[in-house]
Amino acid sequence: MTATPAAQAPADRSDREWWRSAVFYQVYPRSFADSDGDGIGDLGGVREKLGYLELLGVDALWICPVMRSPMADGGYDVADPRDIDALFGGMAAFDQLLAEAHARRLKVTMDLVPNHTSREHPWFQAALAAAPGSPERARYIFRDGRGPNGDEPPNNWPSIFRGPAWTRITEPDGTPGQWYLHLFAPEQPDLNWENPEVVADFEQTLRFWLDRGVDGFRIDVAHGMAKPPGLPDMESVSTKMLIHDDTDPRFNNPGVHDIHRRIRKVIDEYPHAVSIGEVWVDDNTRFGEYVRPDELHLAFNFRLAETPFTADAVRHAIDNSLAAVAPVGAVPTWTLSNHDVEREVTRYGGGAAGLARARAMILLELALPGSVFVYNGAELGLPNVDDLPEDALQDPVWERSGRTERGRDGCRVPIPWESEWPPFGFTVGESWLPIPPEWAALSVETQLEDVGSTLSLYRMAIELRGLRPEFAGPRIEWYGSPAGCLAFRRPGGLVCVLNASAAPIPLPPGELLLASASLTSGHLPPDAAAWLV
Ligand code: NOJ
Repeated sequence: MTATPAAQAPADRSDREWWRSAVFYQVYPRSFADSDGDGIGDLGGVREKLGYLELLGVDALWICPVMRSPMADGGYDVADPRDIDALFGGMAAFDQLLAEAHARRLKVTMDLVPNHTSREHPWFQAALAAAPGSPERARYIFRDGRGPNGDEPPNNWPSIFRGPAWTRITEPDGTPGQWYLHLFAPEQPDLNWENPEVVADFEQTLRFWLDRGVDGFRIDVAHGMAKPPGLPDMESVSTKMLIHDDTDPRFNNPGVHDIHRRIRKVIDEYPHAVSIGEVWVDDNTRFGEYVRPDELHLAFNFRLAETPFTADAVRHAIDNSLAAVAPVGAVPTWTLSNHDVEREVTRYGGGAAGLARARAMILLELALPGSVFVYNGAELGLPNVDDLPEDALQDPVWERSGRTERGRDGCRVPIPWESEWPPFGFTVGESWLPIPPEWAALSVETQLEDVGSTLSLYRMAIELRGLRPEFAGPRIEWYGSPAGCLAFRRPGGLVCVLNASAAPIPLPPGELLLASASLTSGHLPPDAAAWLV
């Protein structure tokens, strides 16, 4: 079966803004399900689990990069943006997944990486073979070094993955040569978005996938493509991993907005499609600029993913996320975790309390207006795995930090599907990261028929959110609540209460629709949330 190109299938107008209140499910393909026994998840694995995703009730998938890549950064180092890597099953597996997902009314969004390519991309190979100042070098950001012999990097920028953001090359004649910029790993050279060829090629990539039938894109480092004139030094060199300091010259340069306007023009040719930017920008006004009507449709707001489990912090994060998009009339987005950050169960303290809080927070999140992003495994209440054996670690951060920081593998451990022992049906081989034996209790098989499980909570919550009229309305109104708690109401009538205090609290009047924990004598226990209508 092949996908119908969008060009032949005019989008249903009623379906145009399907993403406004959608629940997106983020698939980290290496870790989701393996269909060919090599120990690494693939698109055949995703296809085999579509029934599960339908049961979970999500509206759309966001699939992390599956394009051709040497996998120096889990696929965020793309060697050919218009092909699917054989590791994930190649183009045939993609087309089949797309067609079957659509047959089940699941939208499919892909992850595109416009800020950089792989070092193996033919353009970068051509740049290495060409001379300084050549058109081949001009697609990337090559500069001469500083110091008498040019042996110091052109500026003081660090890479997000540690070490300098510049690597020196050897010129074709064997002499030490120019330096190229890589905000991430050296295997990920930054593209020069001032070069019209770079812009045209990305537009071709957008059309290529949209014509194949995809429903949109998550855009990697959407605040990073434009670089400041002259590439000035940073005033203070930060070593934080996911930088969103608004004075950082590496990101959020004003020129990025023209790039987004160009991208949006292409996407608007496919009215059903959505663009979602990864935007690590704290300032609300500057964040909102990315979702003006002619730029991205949606941008990830990471405030909830960074917020501790206290009523004040959560309320502040919600207010800020709403305030960031309100002036430009954009839709808010909510996410508790993704493949780059610690899983929420661990972030909230781990163990039973961490799990209880994560369950409460998903009810809170699904009660909010806007679109919600669920990271695969969150629906099982998976924690981070922070004791992976060192020889299993693959995040480039591990080596680049001189093996002092473990990086993000702990939130990328494969999904336990079934059976009693690792690899829990994830693969018939050896999983690329080991799965802890105690995850037997968290497997899909264990949780599916248990009405009290986290998976069942997610299923019920997603279903109610999609069906009940009380979830209508683009706003929330704060309600009075006991100290350490919060409560809000949607215009449709839903009331959501979060108890982040240490004592049980009485619930406001109304019919209880769902709670993340059993009530005790009619009271909502600590570390729990409830929905009332
Ligand atoms: C953000 C992605 O989410 C992350 O996983 C990746 O390492 C960087 N961008 C670089 O592409």
